[in-house]
Amino acid sequence: MTNVRLGVNIDHIATLRQQRHTDYPDLSEAIRRVEAAGADGITMHLREDRRHIQLEDVEQARREVSGTLNLEMAATEEMLDIAERIRPDYCCLVPERREELTTEGGLDVVAGADRIREACTRLKAAGIQVSLFVEPTHEVMDAAVELGASIVELHTGPYANATEPEAHEAELERLVSTTQYARERLTVNAGHGLHRDNVGSVASIPGMNELNIGHAIVCRAVMVGLEAAVREVREAMETP
Ligand code: PXP
Repeated sequence: MTNVRLGVNIDHIATLRQQRHTDYPDLSEAIRRVEAAGADGITMHLREDRRHIQLEDVEQARREVSGTLNLEMAATEEMLDIAERIRPDYCCLVPERREELTTEGGLDVVAGADRIREACTRLKAAGIQVSLFVEPTHEVMDAAVELGASIVELHTGPYANATEPEAHEAELERLVSTTQYARERLTVNAGHGLHRDNVGSVASIPGMNELNIGHAIVCRAVMVGLEAAVREVREAMETP
């Protein structure tokens, strides 16, 4: 059995709830189910526009998650204040643009250096481990160490999106080589676009610590849960 950790990102369970502003799906129940199924941690992204996860969700998760809580966030003043107060186990700093559908690229460790460095200092002082969501290159690994991060999360989007076998292999090799280069100095995680058909190769990279997966798990949960949900309603229709 692999000892690579699995962090499950539950943002899109909250997306379904926010679609109607209902009190379901209940994130507490989701956390319990996800952890019971073998996740080592829960990941959530509190976005500036609050399109899915709300502040109260993070507060509640801090109380209820038994494994590790990983808060994805932009390195803004507002988010740093929230993280310092709630104290997740990890903060994963990500770039954020309002118009994007999901996090589209890794952090710009050159242009954003001052802000990232300050965020690392503040979060570490609050006892929170800092992870940087970055492109898998050797130069970026050196920059992550220099900026004060102890963890990197390698962006697996290009690997997941590569359709041609050669490009797919090349992207996998980039992940392997970057993990090898960084592992002595940084804890190496990875995530974005992973699902059950492409996760095995990434999970078997020597030195890989944790994978974070969200969208595909929530999508799959809809499919594998659909029959049960319809059956429940059919049965309820029999009770006036
Ligand atoms: N890691 C980071 C930093 C992310 O921003 C996301 C998406 O929220 C993920 C992992 C998970 O990506 P996906 O939802 O495609 O599994």
